[in-house]
Amino acid sequence: MEKFIIQGEVPLKGKIRVKGAKNSALPLMAGCLLTEGKSYLENIPHLTDITVMMKVLEGLGAEVKREDDILEINTAKLSHHEAPYDLVKMMRASILVLGPILARFGYARVPLPGGCNIGARPINLHLEGLKKLGAEIKVKNGYIEARTKRRLKGNSIYLNLPSVGATEDLLLAASLTEGTTLINNASYSPEVIDLINFLKKMGAKIENRGGKLIKVEGVKELRPVSYSIIPDRIEAGTFIMAGIITRGEVTIEGAHIDHLKTPLAKLREMDVKMEITDNEVKIRGESVWKPMKIKTLPYPGFSTDLQPQITTLACLTQGVSAIVETIFKDRFTHISELRKMGADIERKEGMAIVKGVPLLRGTSVVASDIRGGAALILAGLAAKGVTEIHNIYHIDRGYEKIEERLSKLGANILRVEE
Ligand code: EPU
Repeated sequence: MEKFIIQGEVPLKGKIRVKGAKNSALPLMAGCLLTEGKSYLENIPHLTDITVMMKVLEGLGAEVKREDDILEINTAKLSHHEAPYDLVKMMRASILVLGPILARFGYARVPLPGGCNIGARPINLHLEGLKKLGAEIKVKNGYIEARTKRRLKGNSIYLNLPSVGATEDLLLAASLTEGTTLINNASYSPEVIDLINFLKKMGAKIENRGGKLIKVEGVKELRPVSYSIIPDRIEAGTFIMAGIITRGEVTIEGAHIDHLKTPLAKLREMDVKMEITDNEVKIRGESVWKPMKIKTLPYPGFSTDLQPQITTLACLTQGVSAIVETIFKDRFTHISELRKMGADIERKEGMAIVKGVPLLRGTSVVASDIRGGAALILAGLAAKGVTEIHNIYHIDRGYEKIEERLSKLGANILRVEE
C-alpha cells in the first residue's frame, strides 16, 4: 500500500496538461466489442480503471495492446460471453460490456456489480432498457444472464433518471438492433456524446434529437475505427481548483472549455479570477473567495464528480456555503477527513453546510473514493504542515501520476510505501 505525504502552503506555478477522459475511455473500450477486428483508441490515460477494463476485454477473448496513450483492441477472436467476476467487482463500469456482448452474440453473463463507497448504485435502468429491446434477463446467484433468441429489436425506452451508464449501455446495444430505438430522458454528458461520435464513426446511425432524446437506427454490423477521446473535464476541474486553493498561478492546458461551463460559472460567482481561452484556463493567485451554493445535477448541471473538490475550496472561503448532493446522496466520505484537518462542516442528509475557516492543518487522512481522495489532495496542498493521505489506490483509479504532475508545478508531494 502507498500513501501521499504533502507539505502544504506552496503556491502552484506553471502549466499542466489535461489527460483523456476516463469516463469516455471506459464505454468506448466496451464499444470495441461491437465490431470484429482492430480498433485504436487514442488519448487513453494510464489509470488502474483502464487496466481493469483491458483485463475485462481480454477475459472475453479480445487482444489488447497499449503503446503510450494508444490502445489497440482486437476483437477478431472473442471467445467468451461471460465477464470475469473479480474484475467486475473491482470496477462497476465493467457492466458496460453487457449491452455490446448481448447485442453481438445474443447471450451475456455478467456478475452483478455491488455498491461502492459513494452509495448503492443500482443498475435497474440498464436491465429494464435491455428488456425493452427484447432481452430475457435473469438475475441469479449474483450474475445477470441476458439472452435473446433473435437480434435485439428497437423500441422506445424512457429512463426515469438520465443515467450516464444506462444511456451508454443502451446506446451500445441499440446500435446493433433491428429497427429503431428511442432513448428518452437520456444523459447527454460530454462522455455520452463522445460515445455517440465514436459509434457513428463505426457506422452506427444515431441522431441526438435535441438534448435528452436519442434516436438509434440499428445496423447489422459496425466496423473497427481509430478514435481519439475527449479531455477529462473532471481532471481539468480538479487542477483548476488546485491552482485556486494554493493561490497559485497555474495554466490548465488542453481542456474542453465548453464542458466546464457550469463549474467555471460557479468559480466566477465566488470571485475567482481566471483568464479563459479556447482550451486553456489561467488561474491568477487570489486570496479571498466568496462562499457558494451548489447543487449537483445531471450534465449540464454541476457535476457530482467535482463536489468533493469544491467542498474543500468552500472550507477556505469567508462565509457559509451550502452544497447539496442529488446524484449520489452518500458521496460525503471526505467530510470526516476534512474535519480532522480543521474544517467546519455539518452534514444534513444530502447537504453539507460548510463554514469557512482561516486555515486547514495537515494530519493523517484516508481516501475512500476517487474524487473524495482528490479533495484531500487539494486540502493537503493548502494546509499548514504535513498531510498524509492513505488508501491512495482510489486516487490512482482516476488521476494519472498525479503527484508527478503536481510536483512539476512546485507542489511538495511524495508517494511512499506505507
Ligand atoms: N441509477 C439508478 N439506476 C440505474 C443507474 C443509475 O437508479 O440503473 C442512479 C444512480 O444510483 C445515481 C444516478 O442514477 O443515483 C446517476 O447514476 P449514473 O448511472 O449516471 O452514474 P454511472 O454511470 O454509474 C458515471 C460515472 C461516475 C459519475 C456518474 C454521474 C463512469 C464510469 N462513471 O457513473 O463517475 O459520478 O456517472 O455523473 O462514467 C467518477 O469518475 O469518480 C465517477 C464515480
